[in-house]
Amino acid sequence: MTQYVIRGGRPLHGEINISGAKNAALAILPATLLVDGVCRIENVPDVTDVTLMLEILKDIGATVSPAGGGAILIDSRGVRADSVAPYEQVRRMRASYYLIGAFLGRFLNAQVAMPGGCNLGVRPVDQHIKGFEMLGADVHVNAGFIHANAREGRLVGSPIYLDVASVGATINIILAAVMADGLTVIENAAREPHVVDLANFLNSTGADIKGAGTDIIKIRGRKLLTGGAYTIIPDQIEAGTYMAAVAAAGGEVTLNNVIPKHLECITAKLTEIGVEVKEYDESVLVRRTRRLRKTNIKTLPYPGFPTDMQPQMAACLSFAEGTSMITESVADNRFRYMDELKRMGARIQVDGKLAVVEGIGKLSGAPVQACDLRAGAALIVAALGAEGVTEVGGVYHVERGYEDVSGKLRGVGADIRVEEVDDSEMAGQTG
Ligand code: EPZ
Repeated sequence: MTQYVIRGGRPLHGEINISGAKNAALAILPATLLVDGVCRIENVPDVTDVTLMLEILKDIGATVSPAGGGAILIDSRGVRADSVAPYEQVRRMRASYYLIGAFLGRFLNAQVAMPGGCNLGVRPVDQHIKGFEMLGADVHVNAGFIHANAREGRLVGSPIYLDVASVGATINIILAAVMADGLTVIENAAREPHVVDLANFLNSTGADIKGAGTDIIKIRGRKLLTGGAYTIIPDQIEAGTYMAAVAAAGGEVTLNNVIPKHLECITAKLTEIGVEVKEYDESVLVRRTRRLRKTNIKTLPYPGFPTDMQPQMAACLSFAEGTSMITESVADNRFRYMDELKRMGARIQVDGKLAVVEGIGKLSGAPVQACDLRAGAALIVAALGAEGVTEVGGVYHVERGYEDVSGKLRGVGADIRVEEVDDSEMAGQTG
């Protein structure tokens, strides 16, 4: 097993280049299944979830080849209607379910293992299934697989109202509808930047998608999408995570390759607690020189405060003056990491969707264990601001969504090193 060993209490100084958005890549890469030609996708982040998605695409018959500098060439014409992604790979990652929408959109038939991914509590797919059925597909689950099949050999555009502004369902319905007959209108659609990025990619291949980024997305089916080149947007959650790192550790860091507008809610909240943020065209300068102030946070779908930044903010608020309240209104169970923060001295009370974080002003280093991607990021943020040494285990979770996090942090002066530990010691522990 790998762990990060971090000696905290050192302000950060320098520049960090932000990578491509993981959640945009995880939607755009399977979307290439719909394209009759070669796609050159630029700014693909080198993270394990993306590597897994590329392996799955290769396993089902796509030709995938690195084109240097974070670019990938994908030709999915070799994928067949009866290709089935390997169960063991698909179950490791929730975004694998985008294969259902893509296969349904291209072949009018899909058979994909039930998804896995970060354990954030109940993560249903009822809205995805509702969308597929509204388009004319029969959907059922059998032996761990989701089967979807176009009832009359075709998918027909339809109005679809989402009960929740689900990112995954919005994306999956776009994938299924983009080549359907006629007009699909998704109402109460998710507005996240990576939904917009997917729509922009598909439109660059000849699709007709309007309204992405608003809560009403109109998709007029097109029968032929042709290859081309597309550059993935920067990862606003990676950028937000490094902004939180500066908030916790202090110092001054410039984040390059960002879209400041995508960071607006994160920037507003960090400014509120005393972090200085200067916006430029494609970068932000983040500075924290004085003690943080408390605040209250409620996570919401974009453009509200992102749930994927909730753990990182909780870590920062332990250093603030005063007591903060965090309401997690998007994910079902996203406070599990708090027990690990408490090992570092954090004083947090959790009651259902509400966490009350006391601003005790400091944390102390300790051995901690990441339980999911953003929980791991939060422990790194806490460790950077803590006194002493923190050993963060389970960093494979972090590497699912953060490219070279130890290298990027070392580049701004963090005392962080990667260590291999004998996990047989871990095995001896009882739950
Ligand atoms: C995406 O997950 C992201 N993952 C998550 O990021 C992110 O936390 C989430 O969106 C919210 O922004 C990827 O993009 C790969 P949802 P997704 O469908 O699509 C409920 C990370 O850290 N819901 O918007 O699964 C659901 O229970 C990951 O990068 C239904 O009720 O999120 C949840 O409470 C973690 N029925 C809420 O909606 C459905 O059919 C939001 O889920 C689908 C969702």
